[in-house]
Amino acid sequence: MKIAILPGDGIGTEIVAEAVKVLNVLDLTFETETALVGGAAFEAHGHPLPEATLKLAKDADAVLFGAVGDWKYDKLDRPLRPEQAILGLRKNLGLFANFRPAICYPQLVDASSLKRELVSGLDILIIRELTGDIYFGQPRGRRVSPDGHFPGAEEAFDTMRYSRPEIERIAHVAFQAARKRSKRVTSVDKANVLETFQFWKDIVTEVGLQYPDVELDHMYVDNAAMQLVRAPKKFDVVVTGNMFGDILSDAAAMLTGSIGMLPSASLNDKNQGLYEPSHGSAPDIAGKGVANPLATILSAAMMLRFSLNQPESAARIEKAVDAVLSQGLRTPDIHSEGMTQVGTAAMGDAVVRALTA
Ligand code: IPM
Ligand code: MG
Repeated sequence: MKIAILPGDGIGTEIVAEAVKVLNVLDLTFETETALVGGAAFEAHGHPLPEATLKLAKDADAVLFGAVGDWKYDKLDRPLRPEQAILGLRKNLGLFANFRPAICYPQLVDASSLKRELVSGLDILIIRELTGDIYFGQPRGRRVSPDGHFPGAEEAFDTMRYSRPEIERIAHVAFQAARKRSKRVTSVDKANVLETFQFWKDIVTEVGLQYPDVELDHMYVDNAAMQLVRAPKKFDVVVTGNMFGDILSDAAAMLTGSIGMLPSASLNDKNQGLYEPSHGSAPDIAGKGVANPLATILSAAMMLRFSLNQPESAARIEKAVDAVLSQGLRTPDIHSEGMTQVGTAAMGDAVVRALTA
């Protein structure tokens, strides 16, 4: 088993270090190699995704990724910005299927900004298409407007597009995931306005005919955003495009108490995967030792389950995380009265102790 470790920027290095600590106490042997990515790689090599880093990721069975980005790079040309590293990895490795499970641990119901009864027992799975849509659609750019409301004015544009095979494969992923859960899929679109998402809806419906045992419904994205904060437990598996999935998964994260709890897996058709917390590099708290490492530790568990075929070790990590929460340990983002506030390393150490106890 070969794991590429790409900590990245900001809190990325701190949280990945804790996940590595956890991996190292499992009785497993794997080869790991660490490389720079994002702003850190730009500083050292002039590019956010150097050839060597990309090759390392391609040759590995799995990539454990921290986070990239810092405001100080916002002025760089787009191809040199840290975010291009994660987009480039997704595209180059063909990681089209992004799993973002939002689970509200019973210990954390009071950390959520929503009422206890709305989130208690919450367990939903957002499946986000990750290599298409307006994120990658060409053409895009800036130009002098040839037409439109203000011909001759400066304008910028992106292209939202999806091909049939792209929609079919993510729909299959969603229906198959639903078969292992409560057999319900909600496909989120904007078919009332966008051609791309009428096509999306038509194709998901078509694929759904091959899964008569799975119940499929469709929801417009604006309504889905509202339902996520009104009655989130009505959802089970949610499948949607890249842009809507980006937005809805951040909203779903808050249901669980903190985005610091949300792991993610991004898979290609060979089950090679990139595993990262759903949150960003949080430059405002970087270097302070206060970031929550649990999303990254839980991402490492997903890595063991999905790409490395070690479901027992994955379950052990998940149980250990549950145990430290039961012990009352909390990083600041999930802290509430009566709990013990700890920093990043202490939280990682506690997971290690729970694992080895
Ligand atoms: C995410 C992030 C990324 C995205 C950024 C960092 C490019 O927000 O993984 O959700 O937009 O996909
Ligand atoms: Mg996002």
